[in-house]
Amino acid sequence: MKAAVFVEPGRITLEERPVPTVGPGDALIRITTTTICGTDIHILKGEYPVRPGLIVGHEPVGVIEELGEGVTGYDVGQRVIVGAITPCGQCYHCLDGHQAQCGGKPIGGWRFGNSIDGCQAEYLLVPNAQANLSLIPDGLTDEQVLMCPDIMSTGFGGAEFGQIKIGDTVAVFAQGPIGLCVTAGTKLKGATRIIVVDLIVRAGSCDLGELAPIAPRPTDCRRTGSRCTGGCALDQRSVATGRDSVADSNGFVRGRCL
Ligand SMILES: NC(=O)c1ccc[n+]([C@@H]2O[C@H](COP(=O)([O-])OP(=O)(O)OC[C@H]3O[C@@H](n4cnc5c(N)ncnc54)[C@H](O)[C@@H]3O)[C@@H](O)[C@H]2O)c1
Ligand SMILES: [Zn+2]
Ligand SMILES: [Zn+2]
Repeated sequence: MKAAVFVEPGRITLEERPVPTVGPGDALIRITTTTICGTDIHILKGEYPVRPGLIVGHEPVGVIEELGEGVTGYDVGQRVIVGAITPCGQCYHCLDGHQAQCGGKPIGGWRFGNSIDGCQAEYLLVPNAQANLSLIPDGLTDEQVLMCPDIMSTGFGGAEFGQIKIGDTVAVFAQGPIGLCVTAGTKLKGATRIIVVDLIVRAGSCDLGELAPIAPRPTDCRRTGSRCTGGCALDQRSVATGRDSVADSNGFVRGRCL
């Protein structure tokens, strides 16, 4: 099969690899659609280290090609997505609701394109398939669910972990794919006022939130929040820039009117 392989910082190449062999509990997926995440850019730049020779990619959409012994409730030929986070589903941390920390390791649940081969390939081997396959409803195309395995779930997860309440005022720093999904999740959670901040103005952000009309520099975030709320603290803020630059917004959340 063809696969996109990390070779060294600055170089990901297309290589021939054997189709993976299915073992007990695994599923083999024929990938029909996948995409690139901001995290893949960090990998390419060498900002997030992965081992040379690893197949990259963690946004799998495809068709079940083969099921390993013990995987029930699914059939060969069904269309599925697989979460970017592929926890075992059975360890203490998974059963405690912290699947991303599977095995007790920081982001231990993120395996594809991190600790095992990823999905930018013709086939993908899914471990612990019973806990990690999700059927695609007939009415939806592969393209329509492409953001679900990672980008939408990360953004919505951010809004959920932020414990946003009805009526909150929230600032979302960055409106890339992840930030846009944080904004959408924040709206679904009931925030009344959402201030979106990015270096680039995107049409989608304006539909979802109120645009802060400035291009923030690293030290501007607190001032941006302050200007948009008339000096009152935000109830919550979310940062999806992929940089440390907005750490300065930390001083501007609930109860700390600066
Ligand atoms: N589960 C996870 O934890 C998870 C999953 C997916 C992505 N990520 C991470 O989320 C981050 C964002 O991913 P993405 O795909 O949206 O990336 P992206 O590069 O497409 O978007 C980043 C956005 O941040 C904006 N930005 C940069 N500096 C800014 C600043 N100082 N203030 C405001 N906006 C600023 C950019 O203009 C851009 O729109 C990446 O670091 C990625 O690694 C984490
Ligand atoms: Zn990702
Ligand atoms: Zn686990």
